[in-house]
Amino acid sequence: MAKAPMRVAVTGAAGQIGYSLLFRIANGDMLGKDQPVILQLLEIPDEKAQKALKGVMMEIDDCAFPLLAGMTAHSDPMTAFKDIDVALLVGARPRGPGMERKDLLEANAQIFTVQGKALDAVASRNVKVLVVGNPANTNAYIAMKSAPNLPAKNFTAMLRLDHNRALSQLAAKVGKPITSIEKLCVWGNHSPTMYADFTHATIDGQPANTLVNDQAWIKDVYLPTVGKRGAAIIEARGLSSAASAANAAIDHVRDWVLGTNGKWTTMGIPSDGSYGIPEGTMFGYPVTTENGEYKIVQGLEIDAFSQERINLTLKELLEEREGVKHLVG
Ligand code: NAD
Ligand code: LMR
Repeated sequence: MAKAPMRVAVTGAAGQIGYSLLFRIANGDMLGKDQPVILQLLEIPDEKAQKALKGVMMEIDDCAFPLLAGMTAHSDPMTAFKDIDVALLVGARPRGPGMERKDLLEANAQIFTVQGKALDAVASRNVKVLVVGNPANTNAYIAMKSAPNLPAKNFTAMLRLDHNRALSQLAAKVGKPITSIEKLCVWGNHSPTMYADFTHATIDGQPANTLVNDQAWIKDVYLPTVGKRGAAIIEARGLSSAASAANAAIDHVRDWVLGTNGKWTTMGIPSDGSYGIPEGTMFGYPVTTENGEYKIVQGLEIDAFSQERINLTLKELLEEREGVKHLVG
């Protein structure tokens, strides 16, 4: 018997990430090739944005996706989020050259208060929320705090792009395929302070740090390359990453819903206090997922260098949180 459609809301649907994301969701890349979807698309009320959204929807129609069971355009989150199972909160201002993501807090934070409240009011009680709009961790924290009637664990921030970047840089260094690497993760904030950690990783079953035992490369090349990749893309393209961000959003939600089969991935999630991170902090953790739930990988030994980096990214997140205190009460 055919599955009932799942309702997926995407905000900023006429933006650059939206343009890479929507077609893949409708194609079944995110929720499975047997899972029909209904797209509920949100854009700002501005006439130009709504017109652009209509254009994107015309193109989606023209793909005749067999799994697309419906599609609606919205300018109000209260209608866009009605009964949704998945929310991809992409709509927000991107940074330009010379900016850090936290410089966007003032412009973007308010969006996530309003959208958190709307999710609280009208979304499915099991809604899975992924915040992509920057600064992603703190925006996800704001949305979570604005939705007190939904479980906090339903709110997540995107660190999957950082995870994928970390995998790809490490694979290039050792000249092995991506699939040879397991147990890598990125701790903390989606910002240059993130800590891409392969101290627990294996490459073809061998400990990664026996294959790459070059602390100078890790400190001076690997971590800055992964941590500042977003800025390097803005510098090269004149625009922030879009297709790779959409791909990471698909990976994040697919793994959350369909499971990782025991493999590690990275998700930004509200801390339960694990590894000394204050409860509720929206923090990148190594997780595995099963039956639609994520679980933090427990019992890892954190060496002194790793602890120093984790402390640094935590400090930044706590400062960002302090800066939005007035919005979350
Ligand atoms: P974009 O400017 O191309 O598109 C953003 C869209 O959001 C626009 O169409 C805009 O009208 C819409 N929008 C703005 N406010 C909205 C609101 N309140 N409700 C609904 N829609 C709204 O930007 P983009 O390149 O698609 O990037 C979107 C966001 O994603 C940015 O904040 C960017 O920094 C962030 N981003 C995050 C990651 C990550 O890894 N977490 C990666 C890439 C980009
Ligand atoms: C990225 O990491 O590519 C995004 O967060 C966009 C940015 O501002 O760097």
